[in-house]
This record gives sequence, structure tokens and C-alpha cells, in this order.
Amino acid sequence: MHFRRMPIEVESPEQMGYDTIRNNLSESSYTDTLLRDTGIDTGLYDMLLAYGSHAGHEGLRQLIVKNTPLKRDDVLLTIGAAGALFIIATSLLGKGDQLIVVRPNYATNLETPRAIGAELKYIDLRFEEGFALDLDQIERAITHQTKYISVTYPHNPTGVCLTAGELRQLTALTERKGIRLLVDETYRDMVFGEPPPLAVEYGDHVISVSSLSKTYGLPGIRVGWIICRDPQLMETFLAAKEQIHICGPVLDEEIAYRYLQQKDRYLPPIRADIRQKFDIVKSWMRQQEHFEWVEPGGGAVCLPRMRQPEKVDIDKFYDILLKKYGTYTGAGHWFDMPRHYMRIGYGWPSLASLEEGLQSLTRCLVEAIR
Ligand SMILES: Cc1ncc(COP(=O)(O)O)c(C=O)c1O
Repeated sequence: MHFRRMPIEVESPEQMGYDTIRNNLSESSYTDTLLRDTGIDTGLYDMLLAYGSHAGHEGLRQLIVKNTPLKRDDVLLTIGAAGALFIIATSLLGKGDQLIVVRPNYATNLETPRAIGAELKYIDLRFEEGFALDLDQIERAITHQTKYISVTYPHNPTGVCLTAGELRQLTALTERKGIRLLVDETYRDMVFGEPPPLAVEYGDHVISVSSLSKTYGLPGIRVGWIICRDPQLMETFLAAKEQIHICGPVLDEEIAYRYLQQKDRYLPPIRADIRQKFDIVKSWMRQQEHFEWVEPGGGAVCLPRMRQPEKVDIDKFYDILLKKYGTYTGAGHWFDMPRHYMRIGYGWPSLASLEEGLQSLTRCLVEAIR
């Protein structure tokens, strides 16, 4: 494999230093959680710091599939959703193997297959089409060489969602074609309205990925997971996990377990807060002369763009946005997109910081017009 660092990680706010940014509109998650605020009594002094179960904390795996037809053994815990994506790509792909992948995407979904030397066939989502997924285009792209299809819903970076019906059609198409489907569902609990079923509920050929990072603001406990109902494939994923790090971090998994036990308490206020922040972005967007967007249907991000990029000095725009206004967004190149697109993460900042950041985007664009 040939690794190279991705701009989204090199330029991530934690690498830049959180103290260098006043209005952080670059995150894709909900506000980071203070352990104390969860009210969890960790009681961690009594924990034995031994290797844990290789598949992961059994109670936690059970909780992840609570209220679904799935079983605990369909779940493999990983180091974040990022770890899950790495295990899946390296298990299913070799050099020259073909993969169909939606673009833009969370960068790892593109970069790990590239690092493997796989042949990527892109399904490009277009602003003009509301970033909608074209199932006919996917069907046309499938060949006998296709190892799997990789999608992310709710989508990062646009926040566009699939309805339960669309998800069913996609899973039916891939099943009919005998191809595996990877659905990165890391933002699922942040869908506005009722989330669709877990994609993996639609068939044994589907692989779901998620984590606690985004919806719950817990990216520092590196707990994610793969769900799949194909036991042979799960055995391969476990083998990959064991070769990378044997088991997961027992402390993180225990905290995740205690947190998810109280999911019904934590989730409603988080969802209400995200909705309030979304309404702020929506009303800001209504007043914009120089920005346009596709309104998201969930998650905590959107991908607006400048209406007339040819009239804007884009380097100057990002430069003064941070240096003068202390505001930071995810520039388009984080997602293989032109830089006049930018991801705005509205779930992470405080209400005041979000408002200030949005106002500075408006001002900054005017200042950067040539
Ligand atoms: C779609 C998607 N998948 C996976 C990840 C990885 O998240 P984590 O490893 O923190 O669970 C991210 C992070 O931004 C993401 O946006």
C-alpha cells in the first residue's frame, strides 16, 4: 500500500490547534462532549486492563443492534468508523480491483482504496442535480470486476439523505447484481425526521459502518463498528482487526457501553440542538446573494458554493476568513471538489459562534471579490 496524508487530516482543526480558530465551522460532528457532563460514573479503577474480547465489548455490541432484527455477533467493534473503513477496504480490495464509489465523500472512502492501488469508478454527485444518487448510473457502472459499491448516507459533505425506499432500491440492485454494498452510516442518527432502517437489515451482502463520533460528539473515544450478517466475511474482518490491533481499547469500549445504555436520554436534546442550528444556517442562506446550496436532509454539514467563483480571489477568501475573522470551514479540496465549494459544519460550534462564523463568511466573500 502507498500511504499519503489527506488534506482533510493535515488541515484538520485539531492539527492546526483549536486555539487558532474562533469560529470552527469545519467539523462534521456534534459538539465534543465533556465526560463529566455525561454523568457517567466510570468507576474505572476497578477495571482490569487486560486484552478485551477481540470482536469487542459484548454488552456494547448487543446495545448497538438493540431494537433491530440483528444479532450481537453481526457487530464487530473497530477503532472509530475510520478503522472500520480501513478493515473493509483492505479485506475486500487488492491492487487493480474495481470499486464503485460516490464522490464527493469522506476522504478515507476514496483514499484507502487508492492507497491499495484499486481502480476507482466514481459516481459524481452534482450540485445541479441536488447531489442526488442516480441508481441507473450505478447500474451502468457495475461490471464483473466490481468488488463493492461504497456510499455514505446521510452524505458527508452535503448532508443529502436517502429515503428508506431509495435505500431499499439500492440494496435490491446490488443484491440482484451479486455485489456487496458498503453503507457508511456514521450520520444516521442525525437524519431530520425518522432515520431509515440500518442498511444491513436489507441483506447479507450489505455492510454498515458507524461510530459514536459524530452524533454524540465522542470522537475521542475511538469506538466505531461494522455490522454485517455474512459470518464468513465477519471472520475476515475480525482477522484483519486482530492483525492491526488485536482488540479495541477496553476503557473506551466501557465508556461507550455506559453512554449507549442512556442513549434515549442523550439523543433528543442533541437532535433538538442540531435542528436549532440548522434553522440558523437556513435563514442565513436565504439572505445570501453570493452563496447557494442544496438544502441537507440530515447530518450536521452542508456543502454550499460561491455563485460566481470566477469573480472571487478564492485563496484570499480563505486566507482572510481565518486570519481576519477567525472562521474556518472545510474547503472543497478536502473532498476532491473545487475550492469554491465549502463544507460548513453547523452542529459543532455554539449558537453564537455559528452566527458569527456565518456572518463573517458573507463579509469575507464581498472582500474577496476581484
Ligand atoms: C462519513 C464518515 N465516515 C467515517 C468517519 C470517521 O469517523 P470516526 O473514525 O471518528 O468514527 C467520518 C469522519 O469524519 C465520516 O465523516
